[in-house]
Amino acid sequence: MSEAFRPAIPAEAPSVDSHVSVGKLLDALGSDLVTLGAGLGTRRYCDWSGTPGAVPLALIRPRSTADVSRALALCHRLGQPVVIQGGLTGLAGGANLQGGEVALSLERMNAIEEVDVVSGTITVEAGAILQRVQEAADAAGMMFPLDLGARGSCTIGGNLATNAGGNRVIRYGMAREQVLGVEAVLADGTVIGDMHKMIKNNSGYDLKQLLVGSEGTLAVITRATLKLAPRPASLLTAWCGLPDYAAVTRLLHYARANLSGGVSAFEVMWPSYYDYVLERVAGLRKPLDTRHAYYVLLESPASDAPRDAAGFEDTLAEMLAEGVVENAVIASSHADAARFWAVRDAPAEFPVLMPGLIGFDIGFSTADIGAVADACEALLRARWPDMTTLVYGHLGDGNLHVIAHLADAPPDLSDEVDAAVYELTRAWRGAVSAEHGIGSKKRPWLGHTRDAGALQTMRAIKRALDPAGLLNPGKVLESVARSSSANLPGAW
Ligand code: FAD
Ligand code: LAC
Ligand code: ZN
Repeated sequence: MSEAFRPAIPAEAPSVDSHVSVGKLLDALGSDLVTLGAGLGTRRYCDWSGTPGAVPLALIRPRSTADVSRALALCHRLGQPVVIQGGLTGLAGGANLQGGEVALSLERMNAIEEVDVVSGTITVEAGAILQRVQEAADAAGMMFPLDLGARGSCTIGGNLATNAGGNRVIRYGMAREQVLGVEAVLADGTVIGDMHKMIKNNSGYDLKQLLVGSEGTLAVITRATLKLAPRPASLLTAWCGLPDYAAVTRLLHYARANLSGGVSAFEVMWPSYYDYVLERVAGLRKPLDTRHAYYVLLESPASDAPRDAAGFEDTLAEMLAEGVVENAVIASSHADAARFWAVRDAPAEFPVLMPGLIGFDIGFSTADIGAVADACEALLRARWPDMTTLVYGHLGDGNLHVIAHLADAPPDLSDEVDAAVYELTRAWRGAVSAEHGIGSKKRPWLGHTRDAGALQTMRAIKRALDPAGLLNPGKVLESVARSSSANLPGAW
């Protein structure tokens, strides 16, 4: 991941003198866990969303769940808001500070505690980096299938808190489907020790699933037990060019029905995306020399390599014979597959190439995606003829990514483009976020695709678990009016 476009560290750390509560945090937790003052200025506090951020009043870096619990209990008594930070790769502003909060980073809680091959699980602390978890599973002959472009920096805590999706959802599901147990700390310091390895557990409400996707607004996730999949003998990968959207859905359907290992990735790129990345992103090579209306990166896990490889070829040959696929190339080595994936992973370079870009991760039924993408491109082109508009997505999951960029854009462009795209999303009964979450960035638009009853229920859950509104205030939902610290149990 390029360092060049990491958001700048704000120059000025706030004075701590005016904040009695952070002094109390330092006194109670000690300088190993709590950083104040000048020490705050040496790191980044903003995620990749481009939304504004602030420097925290203090940085808390716990070493254990007990530390997290003590820190949150204290913040609760003090009425001190807390923002939870993982790898800061989020795209919705969820980990950014708005001013007046302390930051709680899980970076020191990054242990891979256990790989249990018999149960098919890996148990980790929430600050563990996704790629390290994948590698640990691989070393044990298993696979942790969650995978996304930010794998080298994002953490399991962040993946669970955002219910991350990525490239293999079509086969293995989102983060939510890969978790068996979660340990978490509530806003008042209460520990929920829901760590276990059971597939089946109907003993009351499933609290871990309530916390997955809650974007740091309900609890701090401190540890997790994750499901592992058998590691395929190999991955079969092809790059295909197709003539129209009907062909794309036909290939998806046919590949799912005929490939013995199923489909583990079905990533679709429109020409707008393909042409742009091949022209602008350094080091990419064209998988095919021919031009097409759609490009598909197809991946299938193989358990019996020669037999499955033959089936993969037969499937593509049949699709070529039917005219569904116009041209295709099968990766004959890891290097070939990596070359195909590099074309798909190019968005990691977009913030440098298109500073101020406006990104979307909208969701629809797979049947609707082709028409929605056409409508969206047409809408943006009509209103902003000079805009660069790129379209790609995890098509099998009904997840469309649209990138809009205009050089020398007026300051309110982002609001106008958001309004246009989210109105279209509402009209097609889609989702304003398919995978990145709401954070602060999409909060104004949440009501476009969730009804009043759902929003009311979300607020009730937030009030029940975090009555003082101290965890990640203003994310997902509007900030709740905070009670004064005197009203909180055990206030100082
Ligand atoms: P952060 O950015 O630090 O935090 C994200 C949110 O989680 C915040 O609200 C934060 O408060 C909360 N949080 C973090 N840790 C915890 C915790 N321990 N307990 C409670 N709350 C916590 N996402 C996808 O879904 N699919 C993709 O394909 C995808 N590709 C990406 C590609 C790139 C190049 C980048 C930069 C991002 C991509 N993302 C993708 C965004 C994705 O949400 C993040 O990469 C990742 O899941 C966030 O993890 P993080 O540790 O960086 O979390
Ligand atoms: C992707 C990220 C941006 O799929 O979700 O490229
Ligand atoms: Zn994505």
